[in-house]
Amino acid sequence: MKRILVTGGAGFIGANFVRHLSEHSDYEVTVLDKLTYAGNPASLAGLDERRVQLIVGDIADAALVDELVSRHDAIVHFAAESHNDNSLSDPMAFVQTNVVGTFVLLESVRKHGVRFHHISTDEVYGDLELDDPQRFTETTPYNPSSPYSSTKASSDLLVRAWVRSFGINATLSNCSNNYGPFQHVEKYIPRQITNILSGAMPRLYGTGNNVRDWIHVNDHSSAVQAILERGTIGKTYLVGADGERSNISVMRMILEYMGRGPDEFEWISDRPGHDLRYAIDASVLRNELNWVPEFQDFGAGLEHTIDWYCANEAWWLPAKQQTENKYSKSEIVLAGESK
Ligand code: NAD
Ligand code: TYD
Repeated sequence: MKRILVTGGAGFIGANFVRHLSEHSDYEVTVLDKLTYAGNPASLAGLDERRVQLIVGDIADAALVDELVSRHDAIVHFAAESHNDNSLSDPMAFVQTNVVGTFVLLESVRKHGVRFHHISTDEVYGDLELDDPQRFTETTPYNPSSPYSSTKASSDLLVRAWVRSFGINATLSNCSNNYGPFQHVEKYIPRQITNILSGAMPRLYGTGNNVRDWIHVNDHSSAVQAILERGTIGKTYLVGADGERSNISVMRMILEYMGRGPDEFEWISDRPGHDLRYAIDASVLRNELNWVPEFQDFGAGLEHTIDWYCANEAWWLPAKQQTENKYSKSEIVLAGESK
């Protein structure tokens, strides 16, 4: 395995994965990315151009995909519409890229017999109660809540069906919420950091009690490489690093690290259908592939991430105003504390 095609490699996790492979492998990487609002070639800046090439195109373009798949040994499929809030206002793009785009890739993988790894989310499992002792495992039934998570669930089911019916060499992984450098400013952690850096108030949805299971993006990358190289064909692996935190506790950590008071944020009306809690049991990945996350200390990882946004304003500033304009169409700021 030498030549890897990475779809969505100009997005947050894809770009970090390409950077990870540049350091931890000798693969040649082709990135296929449509460069939507979420894709940014600057996220690949500084990489060796002899080893990393960017092709701008759509994963739903069957002719382009077929040509690219035919000359690679493996595909790692990150490309997606990835933001829940956008999926509530414009679900069509999610069906097109996440479902139709994945179908186009699978047909080409079937034709050329290429190794395929599909990237997905723990949100396909729906949500958990705050006091539920269970966490998501590989056998938890699918129960997605939003247009985003339902289209990701659809894509997972397509991959599983192509394994069973056509025998493609595929693996899947479902990961919890990622944080780290190069994440779009629409997402929770970078939005709050860049609001503070822009002189605006951070914004918390609903009660702030919703729990997300945070993993540093570098740990997601090392997990995907392990599955790609050593995973069992046909199998699904859950990826998480035991990082459960409520949104309000993450908010207060960001405020503290950035020298603000604990209540210097605004309460926002809740997201419709807002999942309460995600939590991953990654024992299969840990035990079978001996994967261990490097970033065990969320506070330290968060401080590094804040430092990165402080040092890389040129990367995030061009997207900031447009993102906040989009939010301002639907967000309602609540007076006082949300309950
Ligand atoms: P992102 O939105 O930052 O990046 C997505 C990338 O895909 C962008 O570069 C975009 O230009 C590209 N893209 C979109 N539509 C395309 C198309 N039709 N053809 C080609 N390229 C297209 O997303 P992300 O946060 O990096 O997520 C990457 C993957 O990881 C997604 O599949 C997502 O579901 C999954 N995931 C994300 C998280 C998370 O916390 N962000 C957690 C678990 C799983
Ligand atoms: P997000 O980064 O959109 O990821 P996901 O919806 O995939 O979990 O949001 C993470 C959590 O933060 C989620 O519970 C919604 C909440 N949130 C806020 O409270 N304020 C915000 O400005 C945003 C963008 C999200």
